[in-house]
Amino acid sequence: MRVSVIGCGYLGAVHAACMAKLGHDVVGIDLDERKVAALSSAKAPFYEPGLEELLQDLQETGRLSFTTDMSEASGQDVHFICVGTPQKKGENAADLSYVNSAVTALLPFIEPGNLIVGKSTVPVGTAFHLSKLVSEREPSAHTVWNPEFLREGHAVSDTLNPDRLVYGVADGSEDHPAVTILDEVYSTPLAAGTPRLVTDLPTAELVKTAANSFLATKISFINAMAELCEAAGADVTRLADAIGLDDRIGRKFLNAGIGFGGGCLPKDIRAFMARAGELGADQALTFLREVDAINMRRRSRVVELTRQLCDDTLLGKRITVLGAAFKPESDDVRDSPALSIAAQLQLQGAVVTVTDPKALANAAMRFPELQYEPDLEAAVTKADALLLLTEWNSYRDLDPHEIRTLVTSPRILDGRNVLDSEKWRAAGWTFRGIGRA
Ligand code: UGA
Repeated sequence: MRVSVIGCGYLGAVHAACMAKLGHDVVGIDLDERKVAALSSAKAPFYEPGLEELLQDLQETGRLSFTTDMSEASGQDVHFICVGTPQKKGENAADLSYVNSAVTALLPFIEPGNLIVGKSTVPVGTAFHLSKLVSEREPSAHTVWNPEFLREGHAVSDTLNPDRLVYGVADGSEDHPAVTILDEVYSTPLAAGTPRLVTDLPTAELVKTAANSFLATKISFINAMAELCEAAGADVTRLADAIGLDDRIGRKFLNAGIGFGGGCLPKDIRAFMARAGELGADQALTFLREVDAINMRRRSRVVELTRQLCDDTLLGKRITVLGAAFKPESDDVRDSPALSIAAQLQLQGAVVTVTDPKALANAAMRFPELQYEPDLEAAVTKADALLLLTEWNSYRDLDPHEIRTLVTSPRILDGRNVLDSEKWRAAGWTFRGIGRA
């Protein structure tokens, strides 16, 4: 099929490349000239495992191109809307200006029978509003909502082999003409057995925000248990292992630590609360306020634990933060708890050095006042304490004996509960985890 992908960020660039991989002719459209230039020469503008290799493989096929020119959407059958919906400044609600301007800019190029497919995470009701704009311009075009569930760090495989496909169509019916077209777009994952659900527009929009809210709730639940475990002298990792063996609960997303961050979970639960308020259903989501509060409390708790680890004062202490990205295998630092903790420690008088395998350039743009050191050995040398805040494999695999020879004081706080505490203690380290005695 002939496909356009509007917005080439973390979602759109991966989606465009994966659509071409599935055999479609794809044009990716973005206003950012640098991003388009990078993608056009098969360079990923951000770190995402497998993306650059995919872009390179696709170069020879001629099935994938990138442009800043919206008129190149003309002649395509399916237009995916993949622009960002960040949190509005000073408010909880989502900023829909990118979605609105993408669709408005696309309108003149929409042709009879085209499909406009929203993938961005939007407040419920947005798709209906956009569908009116589209049908005023071209009555035979269809607006559908097809939320994306990819995880950064696994974006390519999540897009090529999704858990499920959700199609939100105007009448919620399997017989809607858009269903056949989307089935053709996704024929490869469907043939591989990916479940596909057809819903109405508001249900499809809500599926995405409900899924992210559930994940956020699961993380905050285990972090609340971590608070309790600390108070009671219990171990939250063993607790998670034990409750996770119940199939109804499951062990995934029960890792206590410094809390969730990134460009999705934090802003999505806030936008969901804001939208519920507009709909007069705010009571239904007041629990998300607590989910958010537990999450934010993790950051101050880690600062406090670090102070305890450093003999009750942060002043002048040389602290090395291992990890800046909001999660491993990503260079994304949006709302990264690791960076936020690093900045708070620095404000409280510590001398902070941050290291990360991929995210330092983005981190330095966001927090220029912090000191960054790409070389792990140099970063930990003469440290008074180490904080493991993003669980990259290179930090999980650190040898406590080797690293001990570099630091001034062998003290470590494992903010992700991924290190073997016995091993580190046996090597002479003062070791703190989260929610562990
Ligand atoms: C999240 C969802 O998982 C995706 O399904 C969704 O498509 C995406 O948002 C989106 O809306 O676009 P992502 O933001 O890439 O994906 O990251 P997650 O893997 O969900 O992790 C989010 C945060 O939770 C990270 O900071 C991670 O470190 C933290 N986390 C995760 C925990 O603290 N504990 C856990 O057990 C799991």
